Amino acid sequence: MNHSKFQFKELKILLLFALILFTASCKNGNSTSVLDQKFTGDGDDLPKVTQEMVAPPMLPKFDEIDKDGPKVVQVTFTVEEKKIEVAPGDSIWAFTYNGTVPGPMIVVHQNDFVELTLKNPATNTQTHNIDFHAATGEMGGGEISLVNPGQQVKFRFRCIRAGVFVYHCAPGGLMVPAHVVSGMNGAIMVLPREGLKDENGNAVKFDKAYYIAEQDYYLPKDKDGKIENIATPQQSIREIEESIKTLMPTNIVFNGHEGALLGKNALTANVGENVLFITSSANRDTRIHLIGGHADLYWPGGKFANKPDIDYETWSVPGGSAAAALYKFREPGTYLLLNHNLIEAFAFGAMAQVKVTGTWDSTLMKQIQKPSAIQ
Ligand code: CU
Repeated sequence: MNHSKFQFKELKILLLFALILFTASCKNGNSTSVLDQKFTGDGDDLPKVTQEMVAPPMLPKFDEIDKDGPKVVQVTFTVEEKKIEVAPGDSIWAFTYNGTVPGPMIVVHQNDFVELTLKNPATNTQTHNIDFHAATGEMGGGEISLVNPGQQVKFRFRCIRAGVFVYHCAPGGLMVPAHVVSGMNGAIMVLPREGLKDENGNAVKFDKAYYIAEQDYYLPKDKDGKIENIATPQQSIREIEESIKTLMPTNIVFNGHEGALLGKNALTANVGENVLFITSSANRDTRIHLIGGHADLYWPGGKFANKPDIDYETWSVPGGSAAAALYKFREPGTYLLLNHNLIEAFAFGAMAQVKVTGTWDSTLMKQIQKPSAIQ
């Protein structure tokens, strides 16, 4: 055997071995697949903080970048069954978490625990629970959170995936869609511990965030086709179990009722601000568009561990999900954020306004001639 040939073969084996070691070390580094995530502890030993819930479109107080390490974030939801007007003259017995449609947004960081106390006061008429799309196991918590009027329940889940996720009531059978389209849904935002990243992987911060939920209602009608004024929540839910089967919403609105985010209730921003829009729809698919703007950064499905797409004109929100879009406002004015099925926006109510103040930038748009007689 030729001596130099033997050395070459040995070198090849050595190189192959080094390559295997290198590949293995990469796997043990920061490229662990989501399939191989492992966790320790059930949260008992972690510090506990209470998060005060606020009504959407506002978010509770939170840090974009985590300072203190994993914790248990304690929140309380009280179910309120209450009659609300969804459009002038048309009302529904809404089933709500903390009295609003949608329910309040919870904000945590990845690998924090949410510890929810769910209270169903004795004055209510229905059994309720909660299914968190951010949770793992037991029907998202639905199995272990069923409470009758007069009961409360407490459970904890680890938020292992970053992103925005829907939660909703799911008490079983036709009650699931009936409660969801009676308003019983909301969203949670699970931020990466180090905050958000732009399309190049650089840190990006937002100046404000708003939560906007599209809600489809199927208000029961009488035999003349007129929307009924229903006396009790029990009758409402019985009739809605039938009216949903039309698959034809009577109302499609943002944040609970027509005009909830219009006029004096409009969202606000200043030119130069990064605004994070969190949009959800618990039941129907929708498509969100900001007239006069874009999604500079758009996380499809709202999942922050993925690289955001850029430059979207309209972004998709499949039913049962939330999405996140970040936009830097560059021009002042009143913008419309709407469902770009324009019939659902203008005829049914699925739209919001964003009033933006600042100085006009004519490098982006300029009117050359005001409307005047054709010359
Ligand atoms: Cu419910």
